[in-house]
Amino acid sequence: MRIVVLFGSEMGTAEKVAEAVAEELNEHQITVFDMSEFDITELDPEIFHIIVCSTYGEGDLPTGAEPFFEALEAHRPDLTALRFAVFGLGDSVYDNTFNRGGEIAAAKLTALGGVQLGDHARHDASTEIKPAAMGREWSRTLPLESITLAPA
Ligand SMILES: Cc1cc2nc3c(=O)[nH]c(=O)nc-3n(C[C@H](O)[C@H](O)[C@H](O)COP(=O)(O)O)c2cc1C
Repeated sequence: MRIVVLFGSEMGTAEKVAEAVAEELNEHQITVFDMSEFDITELDPEIFHIIVCSTYGEGDLPTGAEPFFEALEAHRPDLTALRFAVFGLGDSVYDNTFNRGGEIAAAKLTALGGVQLGDHARHDASTEIKPAAMGREWSRTLPLESITLAPA
């Protein structure tokens, strides 16, 4: 299966998770991109997308991920054939906005027709759980064998 991992990160944690996920799933044809360098026209329904996204500000997307989601809002591509999974990062000290970044990402893709698969992961920086290790474990739970990707 072809997989693209897109990360949105401010301090690099989400990037490390994205790389760990790519390493764990290396039996697939998998590539990692920073969302800040990924054009929405490259979203391809024949590729499974994994979004790894942290949370900043007051429950906002990381700055680097904003242009990607702004472009989605502006152009509103039909993503009905797009299948994706989300690994969010946050910190439960921000109790009202915990993990909102990944949730915003999921909501914006779903609003355009995208279908979220697997568990929505929410890493909590206030725990001892290592983000990359959690990402590896989570990636193994994704229902990749049962996903059929189709051209739009
Ligand atoms: C200034 C600042 C604001 C943050 N705001 C939130 C927030 O609103 N909600 C949340 O769950 N986490 C918040 N976080 C925690 C980060 O999302 C968390 O530490 C994450 O692991 C960072 O990932 P990154 O290194 O990829 O950017 C904030 C962190 C900082 C430094």
